[in-house]
Amino acid sequence: MTPDERQASDRFRATYGAAPRWVASAPGRVNLIGEFTDYNDGLVLPMAIARRTAIAAAPNGTDQIMLKSDASDTIATIELNRPIVPTPRPSWGNYPRGIVAGFLEAGLAPCGLNALVCSNVPIGAGLSSSAALESAMTVLLETVVGTKLDPIRAVLLCQTAEHNFAGVPCGIMDPFICLLGRPGQALLLDCRSREPDWLPFEDPTVEVLIVNTNVRHELASSEYPDRRRRCSEAARRLAVASLREASMERLQQEAGHSDDTTWRCARHVVTEIDRTRRAAEAIRARDWPRLGRLMDESHESLKSDFRVSCAELDLVSEIAAGIGPQGGVFGARMTGGGFGGCAIALVLASARETIAAAIRNRYLARTGVEPTLFVSRPAEGARVIEA
Ligand code: GLA
Repeated sequence: MTPDERQASDRFRATYGAAPRWVASAPGRVNLIGEFTDYNDGLVLPMAIARRTAIAAAPNGTDQIMLKSDASDTIATIELNRPIVPTPRPSWGNYPRGIVAGFLEAGLAPCGLNALVCSNVPIGAGLSSSAALESAMTVLLETVVGTKLDPIRAVLLCQTAEHNFAGVPCGIMDPFICLLGRPGQALLLDCRSREPDWLPFEDPTVEVLIVNTNVRHELASSEYPDRRRRCSEAARRLAVASLREASMERLQQEAGHSDDTTWRCARHVVTEIDRTRRAAEAIRARDWPRLGRLMDESHESLKSDFRVSCAELDLVSEIAAGIGPQGGVFGARMTGGGFGGCAIALVLASARETIAAAIRNRYLARTGVEPTLFVSRPAEGARVIEA
């Protein structure tokens, strides 16, 4: 068991007075590059991280799933013999609720459970805490009902839960990597064909340094659907099924004819898909300076064209650029949905401590906010163990 799984098991015992039968867990993720491309049928390049959400559970002989969490006093109860709908007010319980609804809809009815959720994936920090919870719940219920879903079906079940129970019209990247992540490998995912291409990413001399800005701006939830709408609008104007089909040449012809904000969103997506393709080549060639440059360019595009960055994320990217390759930073960018949350830097492992200290000190001095920094290697996806 990982420490998170052990913790969930211990907390279950303390809460319910008996041992759990299963412990399911799923990782958070960082996206190395390929941001806001998943719902445009494009390419993404995430990896699972060594921070997990774990759910310890055991049958309780009732028609109810009861979930308690380490991070909240709110208890989520799910009545299995009533229609399952999201609570009117946003609540963490809606993620597992959405997963249970997906299983019931598929004709796979779980038994009643007592469950305890523990997580060390920071919540709302762009590391996919919600997909980690959904993915852990999915593999738990697969075990409970005794049916392993086809992986793509499981991914889509999580995505549907996020759409219908959390109101976020997200793509498939997060559940895909949280469910299926592999140790030592990054995932080049073609979101049109849903074909994974697993890339070895385990050079001991480089590391991904995750910098949590520890800020989250209100805009985060309202801007996501706005960008998604703009991307569909741009595809419609260009007469393509999705921005994956749009070329830079075709986009240039449209310049000036359409709304500038929407056009820039489209430019981000088209250039980002191309950067992601090149980043995969760089990873294959272990060309870290090249991967770093592509990450820098991605950040610039997210900041100026897609406009989902914020002062704090820009500051981390600036500080990282100031240290530069000579100081051991190959490149840096925001990761995930933006407007706060985390940035990542590709760093020389031997300089990790110095780099982390420099970023922390400069960020703290400029913002007055203490950032959280940690490194992670690509980790394993969702799993269940018999406790
Ligand atoms: C969120 C969504 C993903 C993806 C990213 C941006 O994490 O859940 O589907 O769109 O934002 O790349």
